[in-house]
Amino acid sequence: MRQPISSKSFYDITSKSYQNTSFERAKYLSAIDLIVTQKMSKIEELKLLEVGAGNGIRTRTIISGLTYKKLLLIEESEVFASELLKTFDKTEVHQGSVEDYEHSDVYFNMAFSLWNVIGHVPEPLTYLKSINKLLENNGIFIFDFNNRLNIKEYGFYNVARNWLRGLLSGDAGQFTLNKDGVSTPVYIYQLAEIKSLCQKSGFVVEQKVYVNYETGNIEGNQLSGQILLICRKVT
Ligand SMILES: C[S@@+](CC[C@H](N)C(=O)[O-])C[C@H]1O[C@@H](n2cnc3c(N)ncnc32)[C@H](O)[C@@H]1O
Repeated sequence: MRQPISSKSFYDITSKSYQNTSFERAKYLSAIDLIVTQKMSKIEELKLLEVGAGNGIRTRTIISGLTYKKLLLIEESEVFASELLKTFDKTEVHQGSVEDYEHSDVYFNMAFSLWNVIGHVPEPLTYLKSINKLLENNGIFIFDFNNRLNIKEYGFYNVARNWLRGLLSGDAGQFTLNKDGVSTPVYIYQLAEIKSLCQKSGFVVEQKVYVNYETGNIEGNQLSGQILLICRKVT
């Protein structure tokens, strides 16, 4: 059996095949990108922070057409960070985790962290608090996560089993992500857990969007899609 490795090592090793994985989810990712761009376009004097920017291809899509005053991409994987440095200025890229980011007094009014980055972090509360600290008061944080109550994606039996497991043991979200001969732990949340984490880290959830993982269509309830949250920093 393969020994699970850290998220950082996992993305360093699997970075080459990453774009193919993204293509397989193109409809979902494009739907999310559109919502994020629309939200950003309504904010004046954008100061953008992305946490877990990956290879930056989505970042380019999202920010193209937007005018911004500041951009910082924080990315833990060294391989991805060097990819980012090919197209972004070195002042716009920080290699490392957001939890370890030593910040100056520059604050952002919009942060985003896309495609289940939160599922990869060992301490979600620390991750959320670190992002919160980097935002101005009333700053927006947008992120999406894979939802373990998504029956349309994972099937009724799996969702029911995990839901029951959660009730009995309180730990139903721990899974392993396998790719290119390596594996890493990943936590698949349900909305109630994320809402509680948001509240504890100083965010209020302003909007929830359920997005079908296959088609990218907007769904009507949390049993049918992955979840995008638009949150606001509260003081
Ligand atoms: C599923 S990928 C998503 C990448 C990109 N957001 C996208 O949608 O293509 C998760 C990314 O988050 C990064 N990551 C995980 N934990 C992180 C942390 N604590 N701080 C910064 N980046 C992190 C990983 O290295 C990886 O690039």
